[in-house]
Amino acid sequence: MDINTSRLWHRIGNLSRITDPDQPWTRRSFSRLFLDGRRWLASEFRAAGLEPLIDAGGNLVATLEGRDPNLKPIVIGSHSDTVPSGGRYDGILGVLAALEVAQSLIESGERLRHSLQVYDFLAEEPTEFGLSCIGSRSLAGALSSDMLDLIRPDGMTLREGLRLVGGDPDNLNLVRRPPNSIAAFVEVHIEQGRVLENEGIRIGIVTDIVGIHRERIMVTGRTDHAGATPMWLRADALVGASRIIEETYRRALAASTETKPFVATIGRIEVAPNAVNAVPGKVEMNIETRSGDEEAIATFADGLVRDLTPPLKKMNLTIVREQISHVSPTPCSNVVRETIRAAAAGLGLSARDLPSGAGHDGVFISRIGPIGMIFVPCRDGRSHAPEESIEPHEAADGTRVLADVVGRLDATCR
Ligand code: HGY
Ligand code: MN
Ligand code: MN
Repeated sequence: MDINTSRLWHRIGNLSRITDPDQPWTRRSFSRLFLDGRRWLASEFRAAGLEPLIDAGGNLVATLEGRDPNLKPIVIGSHSDTVPSGGRYDGILGVLAALEVAQSLIESGERLRHSLQVYDFLAEEPTEFGLSCIGSRSLAGALSSDMLDLIRPDGMTLREGLRLVGGDPDNLNLVRRPPNSIAAFVEVHIEQGRVLENEGIRIGIVTDIVGIHRERIMVTGRTDHAGATPMWLRADALVGASRIIEETYRRALAASTETKPFVATIGRIEVAPNAVNAVPGKVEMNIETRSGDEEAIATFADGLVRDLTPPLKKMNLTIVREQISHVSPTPCSNVVRETIRAAAAGLGLSARDLPSGAGHDGVFISRIGPIGMIFVPCRDGRSHAPEESIEPHEAADGTRVLADVVGRLDATCR
């Protein structure tokens, strides 16, 4: 099956241009731009000879029927939403690589034994509702009613958001799939790290996807006049928060080793009243920990909050924390990994195993079948930033390996 690499590259350029012009590259899930992107994607699916639909979980999906209806489908795809000021390839490459494989298959006249399903999963990136992987959660039955009641700052509930994108929150049972109900899921993705580029390796065979634990931490003090309040009378929540931020960095640095990477990030912070002439009375921030060690990510904030509560109390500050989400570390299937290895070798592409420090929809799809991920290098490992960059041949490498893996899985999976 020949991949049309210029068509692929052209599509990547076109989809990435559907962005907030003031904040390239931004296409946040549930936004008008996201819906524009979905309309464009659906038209490209149709141009490729596919019939896309939006399932109850808000996923864009198309199915190429296989010769044997008794076989479980092979699933490929990724996500088309971005982080704010993100890149042009995180997720987008995987959706368009999957579309390219399906279109090339149709053009070849070949018909697989298995059905092939092409997905753009809804909202893989953390949303303003506080949750990520919305669409893939719905396939795994991991989108609870409480989650659907989550409200984002503008007052919209996730339930309403799902309807906005064409989903059906009252009938998620229609998309939920039981364990072991797919032959395999394979996703092409940029590495979002520096290993492949540093070693000059073309393909990454993902061994496992990191566990991610997210909490909200609120520091409360007292809002005061910035001029008339002496330093010794202040309960400055931002000073307390800065102690937590500094200590988070110090402890994570100490906890991380070459063999057992551990990261902690406070990437989002809100200060109230956030006025130049008021002592901050309240700070809300998100802390995120990631590691292959599930215990470590779940307990990191315990020690941090336990040890910092007394010194912050002396500053008349309180700390309150709330868990947002916890996703366990997820191994990739050995069968799919070895299939990726054979495909890369057959295409003469160097390859190596490596873990994913980024989260992916595969953590939820792994609950309904075996998963695998094909990484390609990205320039200087940059991602979640407008500097994210890959070369056309790298997009082609990942897509060629995906096409070959689909063919091999179709031949071998029952
Ligand atoms: O946050 C992540 O790791 C992924 O890019 N959503
Ligand atoms: Mn991402
Ligand atoms: Mn991604």
